[in-house]
Amino acid sequence: MSCTQLSTSVACWYGHGGRKKPAFCRVRAVASQAVEKEGEEEKINLGASDLKVTRLGIGAWSWGDTTFWNDFQWDDRKLKAAKSAFNASVDRGITFFDTAEVYGSRLAFGAIPSETLLGRFIKERKEKDPQVDVAVATKFAALPWRLGRQSVVAALKDSLSRLGLSSVELYQLHWPGVWGNEGYIDGLGDAVEQGLVNAVGVSNYGEKRLREAYEKLKKRGIPLASNQVNYSLIYRKPEENGVKATCDELGITLIAYCPIAQGALTGKYTPQNPPTGPRGRIYTPEVLTELQPLLTRIKEIGDKYCKTNTQVALNWLICQENVTPIPGAKTAEQADEFAGALGWRLAGEEVDELRSLALKIKPVIGFPVERL
Ligand SMILES: NC(=O)c1ccc[n+]([C@@H]2O[C@H](COP(=O)([O-])OP(=O)(O)OC[C@H]3O[C@@H](n4cnc5c(N)ncnc54)[C@H](OP(=O)(O)O)[C@@H]3O)[C@@H](O)[C@H]2O)c1
Repeated sequence: MSCTQLSTSVACWYGHGGRKKPAFCRVRAVASQAVEKEGEEEKINLGASDLKVTRLGIGAWSWGDTTFWNDFQWDDRKLKAAKSAFNASVDRGITFFDTAEVYGSRLAFGAIPSETLLGRFIKERKEKDPQVDVAVATKFAALPWRLGRQSVVAALKDSLSRLGLSSVELYQLHWPGVWGNEGYIDGLGDAVEQGLVNAVGVSNYGEKRLREAYEKLKKRGIPLASNQVNYSLIYRKPEENGVKATCDELGITLIAYCPIAQGALTGKYTPQNPPTGPRGRIYTPEVLTELQPLLTRIKEIGDKYCKTNTQVALNWLICQENVTPIPGAKTAEQADEFAGALGWRLAGEEVDELRSLALKIKPVIGFPVERL
């Protein structure tokens, strides 16, 4: 099957709006493996830390979750799919995984903590493949009743216990604290000094808070490695609010979450076939209608490189430099597809053209914690 035939098949399938996986997907996975064997890229340092991670990571929010992604149903089938997503990522050389203590929180009926699942997948993989080197990023929930630096180390120890690990590579503050952040930043420094984490970062931090966190850690000789924010072709707030420029200036890696706009940039959702659940309130038929010209152009450009929409959308982020996207994978096929975003680059004029087209689309709503 040629690249053009392959892309056409993808488009035809999505055009029918179905959910079930078509048989050609298997062909696509095999074909992309051949194309992307050379797609692995050198690991990069996260900010000025000595932590090296793959150029793209995998988000594990949907693993075990029942509130946002899984319609209150977490079952064996989803568990197997998540495990296969983990293993497919590792097989393809993508070994950076992002989770959080609140993903799959036990407060939600039927949920299993994402950290527990990730820890289990790592353990099982290491039993077969002891050399495998996985980098885990997790996050501290800055809940209003959690005060002071000791709450950070205490929460991290709970995360480590769920993960079954003695340390993690990256610990991030998931969102800014309502009462301030000084204690939390001190707690991140304590975690480094106690050898519980390799590097530290923040998430959903605006420019001012980012600079404050950077300076406070710098006094202890600890680099602020990353800021994880919502960033995609159709959510470019970090370019507009100074966050991307500040990350570049201070040498902080911008970790891009929702990099494929929760599936909306993949082409699988259409005005006739919008996503269900909470996502459906963001990517409404109106939003998806507005997206069509951009998706058409993404597809045309992708055809030229033998790449899917998903791969083009992720590559666009990688082309911004100093950006590490962490798309969420629910299945092995999705993880396989992400690997194909590496090992090539869009041309500069294509990057600009896609931004210009995206500028015509009304911005979608982001995660409210960004505005804290
Ligand atoms: N720090 C924060 O506040 C924050 C907030 C949000 C997310 N995050 C992190 O960022 C990660 C990624 O964000 P996200 O999961 O919200 O959004 P995303 O990566 O933009 O989208 C992931 C979703 O897109 C769909 N998808 C994935 N690959 C696909 C493919 N190849 N073709 C078609 N559809 C595909 C899947 O859903 P369906 O198959 O159901 O369509 C998947 O769950 C999260 O897992 C989490 O680790 C952090």
